[in-house]
Amino acid sequence: MNMLQLFEKKKQGLALSQAEIDYFVEGYTAGSIPDYQASSLLMAIRLLGMTDDETFYLTKAMIESGDVIDLSSIEGFKIDKHSTGGVGDKVTLIVTPIIASLGIPVAKFSGKGLGITGGTIDKLESIEGLKTELSSQEFIDNVNQHKIAVAGQTGNLVPADKKLYALRDVTGTVDSIPLIAASIMSKKIASGADGIVLDVKCGSGAFMKTEQDAQRLADTMTAIGEKLGRKVVAHISDMDNPLGKMIGNKLEVVEAYALLNGRMEETHEDLLDECVVIASFMYQVAAGVDEAEATPAVKRVLADGSAVAKFEEFIVAQGGVIADIVQKDTAYKAAVTASTAGTVETINALLIGEASVSLGAGRVTKESALDYDAGIQLIAKKGDPIASGDTIAYLYSNHPIDEETVNKVQKAYTIA
Ligand code: URA
Repeated sequence: MNMLQLFEKKKQGLALSQAEIDYFVEGYTAGSIPDYQASSLLMAIRLLGMTDDETFYLTKAMIESGDVIDLSSIEGFKIDKHSTGGVGDKVTLIVTPIIASLGIPVAKFSGKGLGITGGTIDKLESIEGLKTELSSQEFIDNVNQHKIAVAGQTGNLVPADKKLYALRDVTGTVDSIPLIAASIMSKKIASGADGIVLDVKCGSGAFMKTEQDAQRLADTMTAIGEKLGRKVVAHISDMDNPLGKMIGNKLEVVEAYALLNGRMEETHEDLLDECVVIASFMYQVAAGVDEAEATPAVKRVLADGSAVAKFEEFIVAQGGVIADIVQKDTAYKAAVTASTAGTVETINALLIGEASVSLGAGRVTKESALDYDAGIQLIAKKGDPIASGDTIAYLYSNHPIDEETVNKVQKAYTIA
């Protein structure tokens, strides 16, 4: 078998067999298939798609490229969640302690941000002392003792995805439904949880721009998970507008902590609503209860302080300093003002995400150093009335803020 034969089949519109997909994944992971041949196949997949069987074989081959985590020494139904990536998406920081405070073990492996979409690991690492590199034993012990652990992916978890994702990122092949589905589901299955709630983002700040594509991605991932014996629920949520008021690593942790503390003036209803929905799905999947039971339980642990207490317990268990969860002064701050009066119709999440990367909150390349305190605070949100000249956002960075970034945030606002 060789790659030229695979190219010929793809060009003729034929589906690749399981053996051919195994050959590609094993060869690329081992380094015997070069980047240029892998790129060619990825672009063919991006343009022509894959059948359900091909996508399933790809996911399986990716899982088998590395270790599969055994969580059997954790008692109970282990639940995980995954977002396909958004701007201001700090939902994991909020829903994981909610679920753990309901007694459900949350064993979560998360990733770092790349491009405009943030990553939970970067957000957690913005907290002084917090460790996200846990050994398997530490991870399991933390879940058994505290019902919650969130760690970065271990060295040998789906090594095929590490190589393929890096290549996709620089070859214009990230936004492909089968490639995203295989990438996410291989990591989720290899991470060992029994149930998975998928938050599929849809809109300007997401990989899926239309509801139809988001639904196809959700259906593809759900089918893969169920075929591999997992309970999976997918929820499609809006990513035309950033979620909540803060975008940036430390800023998002501060906002999540404020929400858990019930300080709604420091956050926004859209974030609370989204967290209640995702947490409710997680509880339904894990506890086998219906929505009528799950949603009030989620609201109860938010209101009675159990969720915030669990958040603090989790941060301390991983070495983090609670007193460090405060907004830090940055060397530079800029106000963005409204150029016209009216009502905020929409805030383009893509432009806000790009601006936050320019401020230092995201990576341009995998090697970029992050400015943990950099980011954007949205003063005006969708639906807010504003007068011309009002401050609609603040920008924070530890390097000088250029005019282009200020203008980009102003342009992100559509005021009707
Ligand atoms: N997140 C992933 O883990 N993989 C993708 O391909 C896209 C988003």
